[in-house]
Parts: sequence; C-alpha cells; structure tokens
Amino acid sequence: MSFPEDFRWGAATAAYQIEGATAEDGRGPSVWDTFARTPGKVLGGDTGDVAVDHYHRYREDVALMADLGLRAYRFSVSWPRVQPDGAGTANTAGLDFYRRLVDALLEAGIEPWPTLYHWDLPQALEDAGGWPERETAHRFADYATIVHDALGDRVHHWTTINEPWCAAFLGYASGEHAPGRIDAAGSLRAAHHLMLGHGLAVEGMRARHPGNHFGAAVNLYAISPASGVDADLDAARRIDGMQNRFFLDPLLRGAYPADVLTDLEGFGLDEAIKDGDLATINQPVDHLGVNYYSRFTVTGVPGEATQAATSPFASHSPWVGSDFVRFVDGGRPVTGMGWEIDESGLLELLSRLHGEYPAVDLYITENGAGYDEELGGDDTVHDQDRIAYLDAHLRACHAAISEGVPLRGYFTWSLLDNFEWAWGYSKRFGLVHVDYATQRRVPKESARWYAGVIRHGGLPEGHR
Ligand code: FCB
Repeated sequence: MSFPEDFRWGAATAAYQIEGATAEDGRGPSVWDTFARTPGKVLGGDTGDVAVDHYHRYREDVALMADLGLRAYRFSVSWPRVQPDGAGTANTAGLDFYRRLVDALLEAGIEPWPTLYHWDLPQALEDAGGWPERETAHRFADYATIVHDALGDRVHHWTTINEPWCAAFLGYASGEHAPGRIDAAGSLRAAHHLMLGHGLAVEGMRARHPGNHFGAAVNLYAISPASGVDADLDAARRIDGMQNRFFLDPLLRGAYPADVLTDLEGFGLDEAIKDGDLATINQPVDHLGVNYYSRFTVTGVPGEATQAATSPFASHSPWVGSDFVRFVDGGRPVTGMGWEIDESGLLELLSRLHGEYPAVDLYITENGAGYDEELGGDDTVHDQDRIAYLDAHLRACHAAISEGVPLRGYFTWSLLDNFEWAWGYSKRFGLVHVDYATQRRVPKESARWYAGVIRHGGLPEGHR
C-alpha cells in the first residue's frame, strides 16, 4: 500500500507540552503556567516548567527525528516567548530559539511546520479579558506577523491556530483547560475570535510572503446517533454542529451553519460577529489540518445511558447540554485515554471534507494513541497497541487517497511523551519514551515501526 512519493511523513508536538524553560530568556507567563499552578486543575499537580526539556535538548530531538526519517515536523511557537506580555516588539532571545530549531531541522532535511497558537496565551492577554475579547484576535495577528517576518523566508507551511474547539470550549466553557473559566457565552465569543485571529493572521502573513502556505488545524470527530429515532438524530446534528461544522463552515465556506446559529440563539454570538468578520475568517487557505482521534456516539433520548466525560458540553454548554445530548458507549475498544478507536471514522471524515467542502489540501496534523505505559526491563516499550492504532489509521488514509481525497501528509501525535494538559504526565503519546527524571529518550517499538513505514513509503498489503 504505497503512498505518493511526496507524501509528508511527520510527527507533532506543542511548545508548552515539551519545551520547559518557562522562565528563561525573557519568556513571560502563559495561561497554562497559571492554570497548572492552580491546585486541582492538573493531575498530580504537574506543570510544564521542565516538561521534556526540549528547549535545551532540541538538537538531540532533531537527531531523533532524523533517525526516524521524518520528512516534516510540526511544532508550536510559544507566544509568551516571543511577546512576553502578548504585545509590542519581539523578545529576540525567544525568537532566536525558533531560529535555531528551524536551522537544525533544515540542516537535517526536515521540513519545519510551525503552529502559531497551541493554547499558551500570554497571561497578560488573559488578564485583559482573553479570547472572549475581540482585541485578542488583533494581538494574535500582530504576533503571527512577527514570527513570520523572522522565519517566513525559510519556513513555508504555517498553521495559525490549533483546535479552536478545545481552546474555546475546554478553556472557557467547561474550565477543564486553561484559563479554566466557566462562561458559556464567553466561550462562544472566544471561538469566534480564535477564528477571526486565524483570518487576520493569514491576511498579514500572506501579504508578506504570498508564496507561503497557510492553514488552521481543527479537531474533528466522526459522530454517530445511538439509534435512528429523531431525538438521537437531533443529538448527532447538534454535536456535529458544535464539534465540526461550527469551525469548518466559517473557515471554508464563510458562514456559520444556520441550524447551529438557531441552537445558539440567546448566547450573544450574533453580537460578537461584526460586518466583514466572516470574509476575514474565510481567507483562502492552502491546507486544512485535521486532528482526528475518535468517534462519538450520542443520544438525545432522556434518561438513557450515562453521560461520558468526553465532552465539556456535558454540563456547561446549555445549547447542547445534557437536556439535548448525552454521549454513550459506542462499544469499541478504547485507548488509555478512554477514547474509542475507530479508524473508519477517519475515512468517513476525509471523504466528507472532500465531498462537501471546497477543495483544499488536507493533512492529518494529529493522530495517535495515549497509554500509561512503562519502559520494560529490556529497556524499550512494546507498544503494540499504538502500532495497531497507527497502522489502522494509516490504512484509512491510504483508502482516502485512493478515493481521490487530496490528503498530502500525516503527522502522528506525538514525537515524544509529554505534558498531556489536564492529565499531566500520566498519559504517554510519544513514539519516543521519555524518562521524566533523567530526560533520557528511548524510541519505542512504534518508533521503529513508523521509521519502516516511512522508509518503504507505505504499509504492507493486508491487515496486521
Ligand atoms: C489534542 C491536542 C494535543 C494533544 C492531543 C492528545 O487535542 O492538540 O496537544 O494533547 O490532543
């Protein structure tokens, strides 16, 4: 099962999850520093203060990537390293880190794929109101052009925002992520302003380097109604609306979905949308990043099944709250995160994007499996479950390409074990195991397997 010659084989990480060095070289505090320090917010009281010390060990990490044969590496730029207070001129020492990283990647023949916002909002901007404030979108665009001015001559693929759904709804509706606010109306404004920030940033960056490629990364789910009854179909419509179409439609079609706007009446979103915003959000993009992990099964039948803890919509989002939607067990095997494994959902999503949305190059910008695994006595990790997960999802990618879907690359989440947000260090997603006490890196079996896939440009025929 070969993939196209120029398929981009990659792996992904994010700044706060790997860098550490949170108080070095002039970096300012981010909302995640504050949140992680707030008792009870992150499992075990873990923080990103040290993380996997990538800030100091990036050369070793680039060498690991080269050993794997990665063609591309998706990382994120920490906004508070570049602008410690979220505004004004750049902190040169912070930007220099990304200059060094990009140089090291290019020397190793690995294409750098930066993401400009992977959730570490400068705390000063949160203190001024955060993403629910329109001004934050403008601040983001300024920051994006600063980074792009520094690297845009050598870095050609730019992702603006990562998973606006998580940033808005986990950050401002359920409070499970930084900044931990529980404010339904504010979370909707946050979502709109994240997308507005994306549009403004693309506009600003493209004006400087029209030849570069720009896009956003969204987390999409396959959604199934628990049955064919109307209440279940409506629940599936609502969750598909908030999880997928609420982001895809403005980004790719320039309009919020009408049914979702009806669900959201009374929550103040309309007032936040100003003339021209949707045209700005709907900037032409060169690629769409798809982060795919799982399928949700939902019911709208009152009293049936228990609410799974997989969605902030559970109790804090009145428009799809538990009166309308409950998440039910779809009966599939799960990863160590409790996330149901369903590679058919990835094919379904990719076909849908291809069939229903304007043509744009697609990349899987995240896909992977987290477990609470340990290094074995033989000094490796026999992560057969992860290999099976990746293999199945890559087969789905191959099937999508065979159907004509313009899928151009795949970045697995993640290169290294790292700080898994509210789960702290308890869940490991890496191809490479990290001993958090010594920072020693040991490639897992999955790393060797993935290196083989890249070397052969595909997978063996037939199922594993
Ligand atoms: C995604 C995040 C990423 C990582 C994976 C497991 O939602 O973008 O940072 O935590 O989940």
